[in-house]
Amino acid sequence: MTSRSDDTSAELAGLESSESALAGVFPEPKKLNGHGPARIIALCNQKGGVGKTTTTINLGAALADYGRKVLCVDFDPQGALSAGLGATVHDVVNIYDLLVDSSQNPEDAIQHTGTKNLELIPANIDLSAAEVHLINEVAREQILARVLRKVANDYDAILIDCQPSLGILTVNALTASHGVLIPLECEFFALRGVALLIETIEKVRDRLNPALALDGILATMYDPRTLHSREVLERVQETFGDRVFKTVIARTVKFPDASVAAAPITEFAPESPAAEAYRQLARELIVRGAVA
Ligand SMILES: Nc1ncnc2c1ncn2[C@@H]1O[C@H](COP(=O)(O)OP(=O)(O)OP(=O)(O)O)[C@@H](O)[C@H]1O
Ligand SMILES: [Mg+2]
Repeated sequence: MTSRSDDTSAELAGLESSESALAGVFPEPKKLNGHGPARIIALCNQKGGVGKTTTTINLGAALADYGRKVLCVDFDPQGALSAGLGATVHDVVNIYDLLVDSSQNPEDAIQHTGTKNLELIPANIDLSAAEVHLINEVAREQILARVLRKVANDYDAILIDCQPSLGILTVNALTASHGVLIPLECEFFALRGVALLIETIEKVRDRLNPALALDGILATMYDPRTLHSREVLERVQETFGDRVFKTVIARTVKFPDASVAAAPITEFAPESPAAEAYRQLARELIVRGAVA
């Protein structure tokens, strides 16, 4: 990426003008004196390719930069989060092992990443067998909650990157979490399926996890050049009001580039508007009390 395209994408995203205005709204977070217990947040949308994994990586890295201890949990058999954070996924203890063998110590699965304060439990394709395995388990919706309880005191935030489905794995993630963050792509049909997702969240709240909160809806892949993208954002804001984060993530090629580099955007291009957007989201979550 040349600096020219940096400038162009910042300009097109319309972020340069709004950035300074919003910076005052979400102040620099205070330093923490100690760590834990973690607030657990599931990043969830059964629609594919909306920015769940990108948000897990970059929100995690931004919170870590603010001195929060963060654990990211790859809960998708595709293992995109593990790849995006440069983790080893074969011949290591992974999330599947922790789900199916309660004698496994979760600490044995935790890997450091290239980012200070940011750690990861990886997944690989083995996790696709979990659905079948969990069917016959007692309290099968609570297996992940039991795993994460053992390490929650060591972190300030645990972010669970869900797969694009509302199956038993996602229900486990919702049952283990204090809050849900829904990334929503500013595209046609973005709202399709959200009603079903919210219904699922409500069912989990009723039956399994009464404390589950909707932390917020994050508009992603926003392209201010298209009327369409602007209309979708307006519609989302009209429909969900203050449940929509003020922070909006613009569409930029920086994210695919950072994935190739297996690094968070806050490290791959720290000065980019995209990196600032995720730092702002981190500040917004802290101001809202969703993270310490
Ligand atoms: N703001 C953005 N601008 C441009 N590209 C983006 C943006 N956010 C994510 N992407 C790219 O879009 C693709 C899908 O993003 P991501 O993997 O985060 O979505 P996902 O919801 O996790 O997908 P899945 O449902 O398949 O797990 C990736 O190639 C990613 O690099
Ligand atoms: Mg993903």
